[in-house]
Amino acid sequence: MSFFGKEEENENVKKQGLSNTLGIDLGTLNTVVAKPSGDKFELYKIPSVVAVKKEEPSFVLAVGDEAKVMLGRTPEDIIAVRPLRMGVIESIAQAKALLVYSMEQGAGDGVENIERIVIGIPGDASEVEKKAVEEIGVEAGAKFVLVISEGLSAAIGAGLPIADASGTMIIDLGAGSSDVVVISLGGITDIETIRSGGDDIDTNIVKKVKETYNVEIGIHEAEKAKIKVGMVHSSTEIKPTSTQAIGKSLETNKPQKIDIDSIMIADAAEPIIIRLIEALSLILKNISPELIAGVYNKTIVVGGTSQLKGLKERIYEEVGIPVEISDDPMTVVAKGAAIVAAEPRALEPEVRLKAMK
Ligand SMILES: Nc1ncnc2c1ncn2[C@@H]1O[C@H](COP(=O)(O)OP(=O)(O)OP(=O)(O)O)[C@@H](O)[C@H]1O
Ligand SMILES: [Mg+2]
Repeated sequence: MSFFGKEEENENVKKQGLSNTLGIDLGTLNTVVAKPSGDKFELYKIPSVVAVKKEEPSFVLAVGDEAKVMLGRTPEDIIAVRPLRMGVIESIAQAKALLVYSMEQGAGDGVENIERIVIGIPGDASEVEKKAVEEIGVEAGAKFVLVISEGLSAAIGAGLPIADASGTMIIDLGAGSSDVVVISLGGITDIETIRSGGDDIDTNIVKKVKETYNVEIGIHEAEKAKIKVGMVHSSTEIKPTSTQAIGKSLETNKPQKIDIDSIMIADAAEPIIIRLIEALSLILKNISPELIAGVYNKTIVVGGTSQLKGLKERIYEEVGIPVEISDDPMTVVAKGAAIVAAEPRALEPEVRLKAMK
């Protein structure tokens, strides 16, 4: 089957596409760049952090790992910040620096050779937000920029049968935003976005620790504990485990070791899980009966937060859908974007997607 009309034209576009295109997941916590390479991808993971001058936050001094290293070790007039919050751009100058850096990582032989980039952003992004990302992409040096929903991109990256008429669903639980997307015939038929995710769980862990022990821990300690012993409430028995964190006693101001267990993390995650269940219930209320079997048969959960234990069980208990947790949760959005970038007609229903993993 020919994707682009004439066979030879097709070959040209494909060749050009494969060498000069990138897929980018501009995430709240991590930015992932996928570059098609044969039938695989080269992947670059960049922390979505930039170091800026405190007095002049658009003056970017370092990006990614380098900026992360500067955290806490820099003079007082330098701060490390995240250009995105809840999945959307907070500072144009900082986001541009992050995107340019990410494109440089992926481009290898120069950003000016990049023909096309596809960027995944939250599904409920406004026209203004979409435009901002597009403009940043062009300013960063790409000749053509396409912005697509992270959810759709994740579905393509995860190899879901998006072109089928029977329907399929993807749940993307990120750091700052979470999407539930139903797809059929290559397009989004239903979508619910929550501007909430793993970041809020971390904030709630800090609060719970403070309430329980009168000790204040840093947000990174909270995240570490979540990754180590994280769980969500479900009626399936999962043995809770525990880990230690060091915080500052609010009584003595001295460092204090405290225990954080899975139950505390499940409590901290509960408000986010409730919002997810509400979003899923809304989707199920609105979904056409033609798509329900497809969704029942094929729903995948991706994003870093999908790795919380008990999530699969809880979703089944609440909404009756047997979901599959992706074994590649953090890179599917970038891979899907890269597939679209290399093959711009990949979103059209009649196009059979290439099995690029
Ligand atoms: N093993 C784990 N268990 C639970 N949470 C995890 C685990 N590993 C990573 N996370 C969380 O996943 C989140 C990051 O996921 P991801 O990289 O998908 O987000 P993102 O794409 O940067 O954010 P967004 O899509 O919201 O812009 C963070 O909140 C992180 O703490
Ligand atoms: Mg994401």
